[in-house]
Amino acid sequence: MDLYEYQARDVFEKYGVPVLAGIVADTPEEVKAAAEKLGGVVVVKAQVKTGGRGKAGGVKVAKNPDEAYEAAKAILGLDIKGHIVKRVMVAAGARIAEEYYFSVLLDRANRSYLSLCSVEGGMEIEQLAVEKPEALARIEVNPLTGIDKDKAVEIARAANFPEDLIEKVSDVFVKLYEVYKGEDATLVEVNPLVRTEDGDIVALDGKVTLDENASEIRHPEHEALEDKDAADPLEAKAKESGLNYVKLDGEVGIIGNGAGLVMSTLDVVAYAGENHNGVKPANFLDIGGGASAAVMAAGLDVILGDPQVKSVFVNVFGGITACDAVANGIKGALETLGDTASKPLVVRLDGNRVEEGRAILAEYAHPLVTLAATMDEGADKAAELANA
Ligand SMILES: Nc1ncnc2c1ncn2[C@@H]1O[C@H](COP(=O)(O)OP(=O)(O)OP(=O)(O)O)[C@@H](O)[C@H]1O
Ligand SMILES: [Mg+2]
Repeated sequence: MDLYEYQARDVFEKYGVPVLAGIVADTPEEVKAAAEKLGGVVVVKAQVKTGGRGKAGGVKVAKNPDEAYEAAKAILGLDIKGHIVKRVMVAAGARIAEEYYFSVLLDRANRSYLSLCSVEGGMEIEQLAVEKPEALARIEVNPLTGIDKDKAVEIARAANFPEDLIEKVSDVFVKLYEVYKGEDATLVEVNPLVRTEDGDIVALDGKVTLDENASEIRHPEHEALEDKDAADPLEAKAKESGLNYVKLDGEVGIIGNGAGLVMSTLDVVAYAGENHNGVKPANFLDIGGGASAAVMAAGLDVILGDPQVKSVFVNVFGGITACDAVANGIKGALETLGDTASKPLVVRLDGNRVEEGRAILAEYAHPLVTLAATMDEGADKAAELANA
């Protein structure tokens, strides 16, 4: 989960990372009031979960509350790379002497952490990385030892900070790593980290990505950071039912048990779709091990709620949960859903107690249900029905 800048600012503050005052506001009037409260020069900043806000006109300096009001009028409602600005942060203005870049992130390819750092930070950092890669230090960080003071100094030196700044910036790096570790983040990025004319080091922008796998047990408080309005409504509904669901843009709804089986089902359906006018999978949905009627009903309910879905392929391999239990689950789900279930369902069962499972569905003989003997046959049938 990505945080908004103002949320990252609050987290930074909690860990003692130096930040400036910031007030969130949703209307130009609120922005004006916030600017009055902060006093002096402020910066009105679009709160959207995408980069390049400054270049898109989403960051404006205002010398007084009236200018802040005008800046808010220009920024609220702005479309930044498909994100509409609904909220801004009014930040105290910094007198910037220099802009630096710092980040620490999960480096999946190397099964490690990585810190990137440069004394040439700011809005052109992407260009710098391409055109002058030597100016961007890349330091591997051992997850077992993290960024302690020595490591922070190593990073600051590699990034060519002048000797008299090393002490100060390395303290901030250590704190930023504490954010990364303490919050179970996969990214903490500060661009720009600035030196002010008074010689202070301050994080003027923050990007934090939290590892959602850590949320439920280690960080129940992270749920409050979620942006419920922005989430896809079907994904939100699936999440409420504890389902692993990802919406895709095709027409064949997919339900399976086990992430591996579901992923291969997506492939097989996409392949079969080539013979049926190019229909594609509409979603990923893994109902996990216990394919009970309740879970099956919740899964079908989510999939059938997607107006793009034209047919559904249920592909289950009975293991610990036997096929007869799954068949009863499908039966129960169709009964629970009643008229809501209005799209054809192709069911392929295999594995533990497959004969019993098939027999239950054959006897049930629901008009929407077609039984398929194999995965290929089921995928082909579901694609055909989606294209009908
Ligand atoms: N509080 C502030 N005071 C003074 N200048 C600021 C302040 N916040 C931002 N700026 C200036 O605006 C520039 C852009 O701000 P910021 O880094 O927050 O947005 P961005 O980099 O365009 O957005 P993103 O990081 O999402 O790509 C900064 O590089 C800095 O020069
Ligand atoms: Mg930035």
